Amino acid sequence: MATENVDCVVVLDYGSQYTQLITRRVRELGVYSVLLPGDADMQRIDSHKPSVIVLSGGPNSVHVEGAPSVPEEFFEYVAEKKIPVLGICYGMQLLVQRLGGKVEAAVGKGEYGRMPVVLQEDDSLLYGPGSKKSESQQVWMSHGDEATALPPGFSCVGKSEAGAVVAIEDRERRLFGLQYHPEVTHSERGQETLKRVLFDIAQVKPGWSMKNVLDEQIEIVKKKVGPDAHVICALSGGVDSAVAATLVHKAIGDRLHCVFVDNGLLRYKEQERVMDMFREHLHLPVDCVDHSKPMLDRLAGVTDPEKKRKIIGAEFIECFKNFKSEIEKRTGVRPTFLVQGTLYPDVIESCPPPGSDQKHSHTIKSHHNVGGLPKELGFELVEPLRMLFKDEVRKLGAIMDVPRAFLARHPFPGPGLGVRILGDVTANGALETLRAVDEIYINTIREFGIYDEIWQAFAVFLPIRSVGVQGDQRTHSHVVGLRAVTSSDGMTSDWYPFSHEFLKTVSSRICNQVAGVNRVVYDISSKPPATIEWE
Ligand code: XMP
Repeated sequence: MATENVDCVVVLDYGSQYTQLITRRVRELGVYSVLLPGDADMQRIDSHKPSVIVLSGGPNSVHVEGAPSVPEEFFEYVAEKKIPVLGICYGMQLLVQRLGGKVEAAVGKGEYGRMPVVLQEDDSLLYGPGSKKSESQQVWMSHGDEATALPPGFSCVGKSEAGAVVAIEDRERRLFGLQYHPEVTHSERGQETLKRVLFDIAQVKPGWSMKNVLDEQIEIVKKKVGPDAHVICALSGGVDSAVAATLVHKAIGDRLHCVFVDNGLLRYKEQERVMDMFREHLHLPVDCVDHSKPMLDRLAGVTDPEKKRKIIGAEFIECFKNFKSEIEKRTGVRPTFLVQGTLYPDVIESCPPPGSDQKHSHTIKSHHNVGGLPKELGFELVEPLRMLFKDEVRKLGAIMDVPRAFLARHPFPGPGLGVRILGDVTANGALETLRAVDEIYINTIREFGIYDEIWQAFAVFLPIRSVGVQGDQRTHSHVVGLRAVTSSDGMTSDWYPFSHEFLKTVSSRICNQVAGVNRVVYDISSKPPATIEWE
């Protein structure tokens, strides 16, 4: 089993932007890991029977009133159960402060970014036998506060360039602290250090693999749904719903009924392409419902982005209700379960931003729930991907033979081209124009071999015209924007640095091949302050 009776690393989240990465790195090493909010109580921590506990970094200072910390009984608990603890950044300062050392503000001499750490002992426990005093390694540092006196039992095993204590250990109690981030790739030997803590020091056994997850989830779905119930699933054309549906199909066969709604806002030939994929490659039982006419009729003349999103959401629900009745008619059984491709980052409770009054927040993107279905529909949810990060979903898909090209697809928003045509989506032949531009853009990206380097790329239709000249004629045609971003989760992003050659090729192809477009602009905004989509 993937999560039962296997060694588990509990990561307590104190709000660092890298916290999820710690959990992912541990899982990459084949070890099950869960992320709990920094204020989780002892009972909750203990319920996971941790083999190692990691205290994450975070934006707070341990000196701030109400700064988050481990429960009162934490150190007695880890001592009694002999659980190694690794504190990273803020987590290290928590260890120092709570165990009787001293943390002070490194006024004017905080250290941030890539820099060397110099080892202070031969054969330290943390860096392993053979590690040498005065050896150095590059790490990703981030500290404003620093440990100026260590608690009893601790020694300093690494110092920064400026002489700050940045790696500590208590050999006896197996408590470790790192002021830098071993989980980020800029720390050249960070993964090695994590391995050392997990496998050599804590003797953890790897038990986390996508094959185990698959077997476990199939059993869970079978048990939850039982032998008779019917289940429905809305496929969006994206990776998550496709992988979730494929897994559920393996568990309950054709008692799963999938629907793919053409809402009139899809990309060029999207309907044909994804339906072919679902039926021919994944053998999923899927109905395609063409809802484009009613959708576009309702959207005609609507320019307010929120109104557009609401209409698109409401029409989708309407469509879904009809599908539910249709399945009931067809099978004689009312479907009672709904498959959703919810992922781990959607369900973990993260630490609140400093200064906010929240206790801890759920990272739910509230305006992104178009395509989400209201509770009143009365379904029980089946969410086989709830434990997984996006890269794990792709691995799970791969072992179920979902083609790689499909797993590597960029995300596509529920409201589709509706949020990529600014203003009225039905005016000015915008949909046809945008589809043609987008197709050229994405094909050119593929041709240049850079599709997989980009998190998301798409074109935007602007409801303005600009002057141009084609042949001897003055034109007054449309402007399209191109967007391409890199990101790890869509929460922040950078624009992708295309080569001049690419930009030249794509712009000339678009202007020459798409009637009514005479100008192409490239969006060079990061998120924040911009968002990825334009509406
Ligand atoms: P933003 O524009 O908020 O986008 O930076 C972040 C990610 O979310 C997607 N997105 C949506 N997905 N319904 C969706 O299902 C929406 O209304 C929606 N708006 C944005 C966006 O494509 C990007 O991947």
